[in-house]
Amino acid sequence: MERTFAIIKPDAFRAGNAGKILARIYEEGFTVVGLKKLYLSKIEAEGFYAVHQGKPFFDELTDFMSSGPCIVMVLEADNAIVKWRQLMGATDPKQADEGTLRRQFGTFVGENATHGSDAPETAEFEIGYFFSGLELL
Ligand code: RTP
Ligand code: MG
Repeated sequence: MERTFAIIKPDAFRAGNAGKILARIYEEGFTVVGLKKLYLSKIEAEGFYAVHQGKPFFDELTDFMSSGPCIVMVLEADNAIVKWRQLMGATDPKQADEGTLRRQFGTFVGENATHGSDAPETAEFEIGYFFSGLELL
């Protein structure tokens, strides 16, 4: 079993799609190990996406991620990191396959409904950024 870190981003939360996305997470066989609603500050969003610091979309991305509440989660499954990335689909919702979350709930590349860790090291950092060990029992 592997763990990954996921976010229902502010656009999807605002649109009332959090319940549908969570239903899909269960349907696809993930175990929800941790879950909470947060309203990130700009500085918290910048810390989370620090790997993208300096890129042209960094300011827009961190403004968006701090524009409203989101839901942060730890998901567990066999091969959870890749499995969740596949369920989300491509970063740009227009490029995402039919049946993926970003295709269904995303609007454009900057507001694409969900986040997922892209590797074991990022999953470890991202889980630790939001959850203590006690919250994942
Ligand atoms: P995420 O980290 O949010 O799960 O998305 P990702 O791995 O699919 O994509 P990543 O390259 O990590 O980019 C993080 C977020 O930045 C926004 N972005 N905008 N305008 C652009 O060219 C551009 N490129 C990336 C997206 O919202 C993406 O989710
Ligand atoms: Mg990423």
